[in-house]
Amino acid sequence: MREATLARPLRLVDPVPGVQVWRCDLRRDEADAGALAALLAPAEIARAERYGRADLRLRYVIGRATLRAILGGCLGIAPQEVTIVRGRRGRPELADHHPADLDFNVSHTRATALFAITHAKRIGVDIEHAGRTLNVAGIARKFMTPQEQATLHALDDDTRRRHLLLLWTCKEAMSKATGDALAAPFRDLDVRATEQRELVAGPPPYVPAHWRLHAVDVGERFLATVALWAPPPDEPLRPRAAQVTTGSTPVS
Ligand SMILES: CC(C)(COP(=O)(O)OP(=O)(O)OC[C@H]1O[C@@H](n2cnc3c(N)ncnc32)[C@H](O)[C@@H]1OP(=O)(O)O)[C@@H](O)C(=O)NCCC(=O)NCCS
Repeated sequence: MREATLARPLRLVDPVPGVQVWRCDLRRDEADAGALAALLAPAEIARAERYGRADLRLRYVIGRATLRAILGGCLGIAPQEVTIVRGRRGRPELADHHPADLDFNVSHTRATALFAITHAKRIGVDIEHAGRTLNVAGIARKFMTPQEQATLHALDDDTRRRHLLLLWTCKEAMSKATGDALAAPFRDLDVRATEQRELVAGPPPYVPAHWRLHAVDVGERFLATVALWAPPPDEPLRPRAAQVTTGSTPVS
């Protein structure tokens, strides 16, 4: 269909077998956004209309329509037939009538969006602009473990800033796989990001044996990580009924 082909996401190199990642430029004209809006659910249209700024509204419509086109392609259905609900702490997830083993997550920075999909695990993704300015000392104190702070301390200023961003993408990707988001225990997630990215220590459910972190090749200007979480078999891949007290609601 015309709208779905308008989405045009760019498939990136799989960071690891079984994980697909797409990148999308959210800068598109009003005509494209108007056509792509036809793929959205009413609640998504309503959310788009709540954005006060036209550029943010446009980016949301392009991003959400592209996500629907990708998920529809994976599921073999039209983008409009994909039902996205909110799980734990608002984590966007597929509704229960879709195959339970497919999971996805979304991240954006400025006008670039990243979409990551996998089967049989839970996935989180985070992309940051590599040039982003930060309160390095403040973020390190608040969100990094003593070991990470020691590693950062040994680096020169710009390498420290960049390494902090890299660690952040690992932690935020993990927090988005569980749905904890900003409620995750960032300061207790001990990450090593040298040649490989790995969780070295953390409190449940951030147990290193259940986690894998992978770099996503998004070019020099960005840093991105996908986190794969293999919850224990007794924990459902979509834990809404068990863990979300408000229940799942249609996405907005
Ligand atoms: C909401 C949060 C999950 C991510 O917010 P963000 O910074 O806007 O990050 P991203 O662009 O990577 O992610 C946004 C997407 O995550 C998804 N998301 C929302 N809530 C989520 C949750 N609980 N779990 C997983 N994913 C979630 C959504 O798809 C959302 O995009 P959409 O609203 O367009 O659908 C949260 O962790 C947050 O606000 N983080 C702020 C991070 C920050 O300030 N870092 C600075 C340190 S360097």
